This record gives sequence, structure tokens and C-alpha cells, in this order.
Amino acid sequence: MDERIEELRERKRRAEKGGGESRIESQHEKGKMTARERIDYFLDDGTFTEFDALRTHRSHNFGMEENTIPGDGVVTGYGEVNGRKTFVFAHDFTAFGGSLGEVFCEKVCKVMDKAMEVGAPVIGLNDSAGARIQEGVESLGGVGEIFHKNQQASGVVPQISAIMGPCAGGAVYSPALTDFVFMVKETSHMFITGPDVIETVTGEEVGFDELGGATAHTSTSGVAHFAEESEEDALDDIRRLLSYLPQNNVEDPPRVEPWDDPERRPEELESIVPDEPRKPYDAVDVVDELMDEGSFFEVQPDYAKNLVVGFARLDGRSVGVVANQPRVNAGTLDIDASEKASRFVRFCDSFNVPIVSLVDVPGFLPGTDQEHEGIIRHGAKLLYAYSEASVPLLTVITRKAYGGAYDVMASKHLGADVNYAWPTAEIAVMGPRGAVNVLYRKELSEAEDPDELRDALVEEYREEFANPYTAADRGFLDDVIEPAETRQRLISDLEMLASKREDGPSKKHGNIPL
Ligand code: COA
Repeated sequence: MDERIEELRERKRRAEKGGGESRIESQHEKGKMTARERIDYFLDDGTFTEFDALRTHRSHNFGMEENTIPGDGVVTGYGEVNGRKTFVFAHDFTAFGGSLGEVFCEKVCKVMDKAMEVGAPVIGLNDSAGARIQEGVESLGGVGEIFHKNQQASGVVPQISAIMGPCAGGAVYSPALTDFVFMVKETSHMFITGPDVIETVTGEEVGFDELGGATAHTSTSGVAHFAEESEEDALDDIRRLLSYLPQNNVEDPPRVEPWDDPERRPEELESIVPDEPRKPYDAVDVVDELMDEGSFFEVQPDYAKNLVVGFARLDGRSVGVVANQPRVNAGTLDIDASEKASRFVRFCDSFNVPIVSLVDVPGFLPGTDQEHEGIIRHGAKLLYAYSEASVPLLTVITRKAYGGAYDVMASKHLGADVNYAWPTAEIAVMGPRGAVNVLYRKELSEAEDPDELRDALVEEYREEFANPYTAADRGFLDDVIEPAETRQRLISDLEMLASKREDGPSKKHGNIPL
């Protein structure tokens, strides 16, 4: 017996070493942790249970039968994050470059199946050279099955990806199918075709970082949501993100013990939002004042900065926040902002996170580029996402809400539950100057002093239409409230809506304009 146990221990020790000491050293030299070190750091101490540590590949191509590594390049299993069950897989770059072989993929699919069966999040720590060349089409089949599982798990359990090394070719599509993608600056890259292939095919010279580094994907392409300074920062932030989320789509998000006064009146809001409709301010300051102190966790902070999204807490309850950002492009909606917001709204709706929308939007960004790149189609996504959402929707118009953008931003007409405006709100088809120019074109062209007439008409229009009271009169707003009472009202509305259930008409699935 002793011999047998010693043999087992030896096999387990070998599995723990992955591709061996020298490759582990090389991993550390690149400033990266190994798969096991990442899992150890990520999960609560001592909670990891591994699956399939002894599995190896079945390939006989290129002499592979002589080259097996227990675990086959991926460490999989489950543990706890802040005491809650969490499934995890971590690519082991020291074993075949973390490349995805048939068995490797079966291990990943098994973790995802278990996560769906028990209803717990699945976190993928990616560090891989992509499909395993020696295994050919079997590898491609495995990768395809992971994509299929990602789709099946979407909207059932939260799926979060961290990119901690290369992530190339078809392998990028698994993280792309997940809900949030974290990248580590300098050490992680994502691309479909690398710099060498690009140069061969198009003659273009580009570096790894410029092409697919963390900054490129969090600020330009929008593929990733967070660019982190280190692997530890990425893993800490994933733990924080999970704290706002339920374990699965049939649970509500956890409510934490509140630490901020629900009766607090944030009087500062009156000075943060200027009366002048064109003066910029930082929407994040408004969010910080309204939400429980220090609770705002911004998502995609570097992409489409004209709109802010993120998670926060109101009296300990999780909410998703969507806010126009007047500091950037006057807070206009463009293609990128519409996509960023729609995806966020759909995530919140999938996982029962109520949405608070803070509206200060002069309209859609005008321009040929926007029109030709499809602002109509992309803007429609946000209309679709809000209309489809059945979670509690709370909307506050802080200043401007003009034109179609008024409708888009979680208006009553799309099914929002509670809609407020501050006294500074202007709700109309367009801004006073534009409206006067259209309505009084003839009078202005014939006037002796058109500027004087225009100013007078603008003032008249502003008094008549550019205020919240017509919308309140029609019932499109539930109330016009003082900025300082907004926090209390939102907290009380969330409490009222906590048991909200809404079923739309039965259908297979809708056809969101993609
Ligand atoms: N399949 C199987 N093994 C692979 C592999 C793949 N796709 N890519 C790399 N490897 C192996 C290497 O042979 C090497 O093995 P060794 O440790 O036994 O020597 C190990 O993984 C590490 O690769 P290496 O090239 O030494 O690492 P690197 O850090 O210098 O470069 C990459 C990493 C990912 C940039 C580089 O390996 C690469 O370009 N690989 C091919 C990527 C690709 O096109 N994949 C197909 C995508 S669908």
C-alpha cells in the first residue's frame, strides 16, 4: 500500500510541476505567475479542489505519445471567493504553451458544465498559444465546443475572463463570448492574426502591444473592459466584481450590510450639476454622491468615455449605473457608447441587477462617420436592451434629455419603473436654439435684427418647453424632485421594486439589431 500511495503522490507532484522547473522559471522571468499560483492567489485560502489533474492527451501525431504532461496544460476546479462557490480554469503556459488540445478542451467544458449545473460563476484565466498545432482538427473541435458552452452559459452564470499572456487566433473568441474581460498591461495580448501574419499579408508593421495590448483593447476596440497594472490587480478586481453579482440568473445579487446612511441628503449635487445647460461636469461625481460611499466600481472606464457604466450599491443593494458623461463630447450618444451601454444593460438584466440611469444627453453625435458606420443600427441596440429589460429601471434626468436620446435613455415609454427629473431638466425634441431656427426660419430671415429676435424666441421656448413640467404633467415623469432627495427616493423605490416580476410575450428569442 505504501508504495502505491507513494506512486500516487509522485504522480500528483509531477502534475503540480506542469511543464517543469525551467519553464516555470521562464514564466516568472516574463513577470507572470503560473496557473496554480494564480488560482492560489485568486481563491479564498485553502478552498481549491482540482478536477482531472492526471488527465493527458491522446495524440500520436509528431511523436506526441512520448510527450505527455499530466493535466494537459490547464488547471481546472472550484473553490470559494469571499465564501461563495466559484469555478475556475487556468491555462498553464508551461505545458505545451497552454495550447488547447482535445483533452484540455474537455477539461474546460467539464468545469463549465458543472458551473451551470450548480449555478456558480466560472472564471477563465487565459495564457495560451491557441489551438494545439499537433492535434489539428481535434484541437479545433475542442475549441469549438468551448465556444458552444460559453454561449450556453451566457445569461445562466456570470462568465469572467482574465487574459494574462498570449491569447491568439480562434482562441480569442472564448473570452469574447464571456461577460467581462480583464487584461494585464504589457504581459497580455489578444489578436486574431499576429504582427508577422499582418506584415506578410498587408505589409503593415505593428508591434504586439499596439496591435492587441491591454490599452488597445480597453480604449480603442472595446474588446476588453479592464486594463490592469498587474496580475494581482486583475484578480483582486475580479473578486470585487463578483461581490456585486448573484451566483446565477435565478438568484438576486447579494445585499451587504449597509455602511452609508439611507437618509443622507447629498446637498453637494446642487453645485456639481451646473444650471447652464452647456457647462460640463463629471458624471462620476454625481454617481459618487448618490451611491453608498466608495461603492462605485466603473466598468470599461477607458472606452466610449462619453458614457459611464458600472456597479454600485444603494443601501447595500447592488445596482448597475448608466450615466451620460457631459465632460466628454457633451455626453452625446455615439456608436461606441450605445454598444457599451447596451451590453451592460443586458448583463444587468440577465443577472437581476436593477439599473439606475442618470440622464444628461443633448442627443446623438451628428456626422457622416457615425451615420455611415451605422449609428441607427447601433443606437437601436440600446433601445432594444432597455425595452427588453425586466429588472427594476430607475431613471433620473439631471439636465438635458433631447430628442430620440430622451426616449432611449430608459424613458417611461420603454418600460422604466420610476422616472424622475431635477428642476434643472430640459426635456424637448431639440435644444431651444435649434428649435427656434426651424420653427421661425421665415420670421428670422425677414427680421430687421434676427439675433435679437432669435434671443427673444429662444427665451420664450426655454420657458415654455425646456423644463421638466410638461413631461411631469403627462405622467412621463413620476415626480420632479430636488437633487438632495434623490438618494432617499431611489433607495425607497428599490425596496418597493425588490419583488418585481415581469414576463414579456413568449418567444424563442428576440432579434436585437447586432
Ligand atoms: N500548439 C502547440 N504548442 C505550441 C503552440 C501551439 N499552437 N504554440 C506554442 N507552442 C509551444 C512551443 O512549441 C513551446 O514549447 P516548448 O516549451 O516545448 O519549447 C511552448 O509552447 C512555448 O512557446 P514559445 O514560442 O517558446 O513561447 P513564446 O512566449 O516565445 O511565444 C507565442 C508565445 C504564443 C507568441 C508563440 O508560441 C506563437 O506564436 N505560437 C503560435 C500561435 C498560433 O498561431 N496558434 C494558433 C492559433 S489558433
